[in-house]
Amino acid sequence: MQPMVYHMPHSESIGASLARALGAEVGALTLRRFPDGESYLRLDTSPKGRDVVVVASLDHPDDKVVPLMLLLETARELGARSVGLCAPYLCYMRQDKRFVEGEAISARVFPRLLERSLDWLVTVDPHLHRIADLDEVYSIPTRTTHASSAIAEWVSDHVDRPLLVGPDEESEQWVRSVAEAAGAPYLVLDKIRLGDRHVRVAVPDLTTWSAHTPVLVDDIISTGRTLVTTVTHLRQAGLRPAVCIGVHGLFADRAMEELRQAGVSDVVTCDSLVHPTNRIALAPVLATAIQELLRTFRDGS
Ligand code: R5P
Repeated sequence: MQPMVYHMPHSESIGASLARALGAEVGALTLRRFPDGESYLRLDTSPKGRDVVVVASLDHPDDKVVPLMLLLETARELGARSVGLCAPYLCYMRQDKRFVEGEAISARVFPRLLERSLDWLVTVDPHLHRIADLDEVYSIPTRTTHASSAIAEWVSDHVDRPLLVGPDEESEQWVRSVAEAAGAPYLVLDKIRLGDRHVRVAVPDLTTWSAHTPVLVDDIISTGRTLVTTVTHLRQAGLRPAVCIGVHGLFADRAMEELRQAGVSDVVTCDSLVHPTNRIALAPVLATAIQELLRTFRDGS
C-alpha cells in the first residue's frame, strides 16, 4: 500500500513535493482552534494499515507541537502501521548546554516529548554542535540529511568566482562540504555571541580574495545578526557584496531588512521554511532518506 503523507499548516508545499517523490497519497485533515485557544484535529482520510509520514517544519514550535502530537497519536490510535515525522526544520536544538545554572537544556528535553509518539524522524541539517548526532538525544531511528550538495549546485550555477565563508566554527561543517562540492575555496571566521541579538566576528586579512564573490553559508538565519555583522566586515575589507545562504530561514525581527541595509547582493534559503527567499529544494534529499526508513519498516529489519 502507498504511504500516506499528512502535512501540517505551512508545510504544504514541501509536503506535496515529498508526496510526489514518495509516490504517496496525501491525507486530508482538519485542524482548527476552539474559542479558548485549544487545538481540534480530525483525520479525514483514514491512516489504517498505512505507513504515515507527517511533514511539519517546526519553527514557532510552541504553537505547533500540541497539534502535531494530536496528529501523531491519532494516526497511531486509528491503526497506522508506522508513524514517522519529516521535520525539514527541527526546533530546540540550539540550547544544547546549561550555560547558566538552572537553565533547561531544551535540546535534550524536547526529544523526550516528541519521540514517544514516533517510529522515526528525518530532518535536514539540525543544529548539531555540542551534541554530535541526533542519536545522542533521540532513541528512535533518525536520519540527518544535508543541504550541502543542493546548495553547492545553486552556487555553481549562479555565483561568479565564489569564496565560501562560514561565520563561525560551527558553520565549518556546512561551508567545507559546500565548497568541496562546488570546487571553490572557503574560509571560516571566528564569532563570539554576546547576546540574542549581538555578535562579534573577527575577520582576517582578505586582500587576496578581492576578485571573488563572498558566499556566506549558515544553518540558521534567525535575527540575521551573524550574517549582518560578517557582511559588514567583508565590505569594509573591500570584498564584493556578499550572497547570504541559509539552510533554514527563520527571519526573526527585522532580519531581512537589516540584511538588505548591510548591502548583501542576494539572500537565498532552502525551502525547509516557507519564505520569499526560497530557491533551493530539499524534497529530493528528504525523500531518499524517508524511502530508506520506510523500507526498513516494511522489511521489519
Ligand atoms: C549559531 O550557532 C547558528 O549556527 C547560527 O549562526 C545562528 O543561529 C544565527 O543566528 P542569528 O541569525 O540570530 O545571528
